[in-house]
Amino acid sequence: GIEGYIFDLDGVIVDTAKYHYSAWKKLAHRLGFDFQEDENERLKGVSRTRALEILLDIGGIKAINPEEKRALADLKNSWYQEYILRMETSEILPGVLPFLRELRKRTIKIALGSASKNAVTILDKLNLMAYFDVIVDGNKVTKAKPDPEVFLLAAKLLNLSPEKCIVFEDAFSGIEAAKSAGMYAVGIGSPQVLYQADLVFPSLEKITIDSIEKALSL
Ligand code: BG6
Ligand code: MG
Repeated sequence: GIEGYIFDLDGVIVDTAKYHYSAWKKLAHRLGFDFQEDENERLKGVSRTRALEILLDIGGIKAINPEEKRALADLKNSWYQEYILRMETSEILPGVLPFLRELRKRTIKIALGSASKNAVTILDKLNLMAYFDVIVDGNKVTKAKPDPEVFLLAAKLLNLSPEKCIVFEDAFSGIEAAKSAGMYAVGIGSPQVLYQADLVFPSLEKITIDSIEKALSL
C-alpha cells in the first residue's frame, strides 16, 4: 500500500488560493492592467518569482529589471501576508482534519510539499504543525513545480521511495510534478483542469485511506 501521504498546502489544506489571487490582482491594478480569475490557474503551484513572471506576461509588461521584479514580489507578499495573518482555523478546508487524524491514527507518514515560503506561518496559524512529519516548502527547494524536486525531497526525508507516496494537489503544475516524481497523484478540484491526475475529487471531504486505495486498485 501507500506509506507516505504528501499534501500541497495552498488550495488543498486551506483556501489561500483566493488570497494569492487578490494580492496578485492588486499588483496588476497597480501596474495598470486587470487580472481575471480565468487566468489565475497558471499562477497556482508555481513559485512566487515564477508567478510574478507569468503575471507580467499576462499584463504585457516586458522591460523590467531583477531589482524591480524583487520589489514587486515583495509588495505582493506584504499584501498576501496581511490576509494570512488574519486567517482562522475555520478556513481549514472541509475534510482535511478528519483525514489527517485518520492518517495519524494509522501511523502513516505525512509530509507537506508546498512551493510557499509562507507555509510554516500558515500551518502555525491553523494549528496544523503537529500533523506533519516532514515539511518541504519554498525555502527548501530551488525548482518550482512542475519540477518534481519538492515531492522527491519530501519522499527522501520520509525515507520512502517515490512509488510508495501519494500527492494531493489542486494545481495543474503540481499534478505534473507528482507524476514526474513517479508518485500517485490525487487532484483536488476540477477534472477538466487536473486531467493528468490518477484520481480527482472536488475536496478532501469524505475521502478515506480505504476509498483512495480501492480507487487505485491497491
Ligand atoms: C503555492 C501557490 O502554493 O505557493 C502559488 O499555489 C504561490 O500560487 C506559491 O505562488 C508561492 O507562495 P509564497 O507564499 O511563497 O508566495
Ligand atoms: Mg496548491
